[in-house]
Amino acid sequence: MKIVFSLGGSMMCPDDIDDNYIDKFSRFLEEISKHAKIYVVVGGGKTARKYVNVARKFKAGEFFCDIIGIYATRLNACLLISSLNSDHSYPPFESIEDASNSNEKIVIMGGTHPMHTTDGVAAMLAENVKADLFVNLTNVDYVYDKDPGKYNDAKTYEKLSYDDLIKILNNSEMIASANNIMDLVAAKTIKRSSIKTLILNGKDFENLKSAINGKKFKGTVIG
Ligand code: UTP
Repeated sequence: MKIVFSLGGSMMCPDDIDDNYIDKFSRFLEEISKHAKIYVVVGGGKTARKYVNVARKFKAGEFFCDIIGIYATRLNACLLISSLNSDHSYPPFESIEDASNSNEKIVIMGGTHPMHTTDGVAAMLAENVKADLFVNLTNVDYVYDKDPGKYNDAKTYEKLSYDDLIKILNNSEMIASANNIMDLVAAKTIKRSSIKTLILNGKDFENLKSAINGKKFKGTVIG
């Protein structure tokens, strides 16, 4: 079984680096990698946002801000690698092709090119390796019709078609370090290759185990 995770940077680096979470996530990866080939694409979180905000003050353009964001994702990917017990190779992979060709049990990378986020990278990696499952780990429990942090009446979705997900995302921003549940490149990729996709909170490991074992779980199924 092949599973691709998109690990939102907000999980690893909500305000400061959450070393406790990184440690737990690595132990979880080591456990499930006994029975599955694992790929993890790591996001940039607050680190990306902090750097991009300062670069924007200095009038950096959006392309350059994306590049800065990519470095932040790779920095976080380095931290995840450092927390794995095995003699894991480094630095993180920089292309989907290289990650796809890796023989490691747990393959780790960050971003690749401007104009998408690590969700897009993870979805394309899932497509390329013909993953059985694409799991998007975020800091919220479900996909909502609007930001649950801003709106009390945000509606939760337990199941969404690819097209409905794309409709929701079409109303969101596409600028460097925008905070969206998934990016459009990812949504279009999972649609064109009918990739089974789950979006759920990355903090609850029991729930996550249920999800990947095909049991009942709290989160949104796309497909
Ligand atoms: P993230 O993947 O962390 O995006 O990359 P995000 O949507 O801000 O993060 P989460 O998942 O909600 O925490 C950070 C920024 O790096 C650039 C983009 O500007 C992105 O917003 N980036 C990242 C790219 O341009 N290309 C990539 O392949 C990855």
